[in-house]
Amino acid sequence: MGGDEPRRGLLAGALIATLWVAAGVGIGVLALMTLPLVGAVAALRSIRIGRPLVRPLLQWVRVLADLERRRLGRLGHEIESPYHDEPPDGETGPVRGVLDEPTVRRDLSWLFMQATFGIVLGTVTVQLLSNGIHDATLWLWWPLVDESERSVINGLIGLETWSGSVFGVVVGIAQLILWLLFAPRLLRYQCRPGVNLLGPDPDIDLSERVARLAATRAAALDAHAIELRRIERALHDGAQNRIVGVAVLVGAARREVERDPGRADEILARAQDSAELALSELRAVVRSILPPVLENRGLEGALSALASECAVPCRLTVDVPVRCPASVEATAYFVVAESLTNVAKHSGASRAEVGVSVRGDRLHVVVTDDGRGGADPAGGSGLAGIGRRVEAHDGEVAVVSPEGGPTEIRVELPCGS
Ligand SMILES: Nc1ncnc2c1ncn2[C@@H]1O[C@H](COP(=O)(O)OP(=O)(O)OP(=O)(O)O)[C@@H](O)[C@H]1O
Ligand SMILES: [Mg+2]
Repeated sequence: MGGDEPRRGLLAGALIATLWVAAGVGIGVLALMTLPLVGAVAALRSIRIGRPLVRPLLQWVRVLADLERRRLGRLGHEIESPYHDEPPDGETGPVRGVLDEPTVRRDLSWLFMQATFGIVLGTVTVQLLSNGIHDATLWLWWPLVDESERSVINGLIGLETWSGSVFGVVVGIAQLILWLLFAPRLLRYQCRPGVNLLGPDPDIDLSERVARLAATRAAALDAHAIELRRIERALHDGAQNRIVGVAVLVGAARREVERDPGRADEILARAQDSAELALSELRAVVRSILPPVLENRGLEGALSALASECAVPCRLTVDVPVRCPASVEATAYFVVAESLTNVAKHSGASRAEVGVSVRGDRLHVVVTDDGRGGADPAGGSGLAGIGRRVEAHDGEVAVVSPEGGPTEIRVELPCGS
């Protein structure tokens, strides 16, 4: 069991261990009943009849393995489920092909261990307790039992006389002492195959993690390049054009100064308007890079500004007692900004709701509306942009938006430092 196992009395510890061991025996018995099925399906499969049975059988094995994971979880071994997809269907390829799947191989190895080792260890633990009580108290109810049942250690040693049953007390107490001392240890041994075999294969886990990191790194670089292109477009199409306009107008005004000062003044006024527009566009671009409102008012303040500016009435709940890293806050802000813009633009909703909270070391952002639904990340660049930004943080996005509504955008971001 885990290192943080609470200190209990010897008796309570042994009793609790025995209960968990008995639960392990229950799972072991189910595993034992499953083993012949595995054999039968493997045999039938080689003559093709068994092929449709492969997947249901492997799914049942996963159910058993999940039961064991839950038992181990309660005992302090949190075991992450290694399954990413359905078990192989076994329709094609040889039996070895199915066994090439590491999760199948590991699940079946565990099944075998639980059905043998798990049951034996569990039975020994439970028998030490039950035989100990039986043998130590036999002298009390000696006259009540049939002669053939007057024996100790599970019938191993027969006792001829009542005074001989005193021997049973000694044997019984010895078994109870062994049980007290060894029950927690036997439970640990019984858990070992599950702990070693039911988590993700360490090699696979690492290579999957590397693949995921490589993908999110690419997504981060993509998001970065897209962001730069967006800023470049915004500067090029907005502020730069206006400043070109200002330069042209100032040149025209200079030419008019001598000839027609009134007209020059008019042109300068237009140049001034244009310069002011350029300035406000520049401000908008700067704000879109990292909204200063985030810096000044924190995530809650920034989000309440967004909610109050939203064209659709929007309720905001924020439960973020700590400050997250700036890039995470900025991403959460952009998620809400884009989602609320979409609500106003596409949903036809009468109400929207934004919920932001921290659970564990994850920041959860949920934006819902009661509109017509049908949000589709392939339909534009906004939702896809949310996906890229969130992926770059190793977070997760879910867009649930059936036709007819409602729409829910759910984002989870790691925010631990
Ligand atoms: N809340 C919503 N309710 C209904 N439909 C939505 C909602 N959000 C998005 N959509 C639909 O999903 C499509 C994709 O949205 P997305 O934000 O990716 O692109 P967009 O808003 O059209 O353009 P932009 O690139 O400017 O964001 C939208 O065109 C719209 O049809
Ligand atoms: Mg959009």
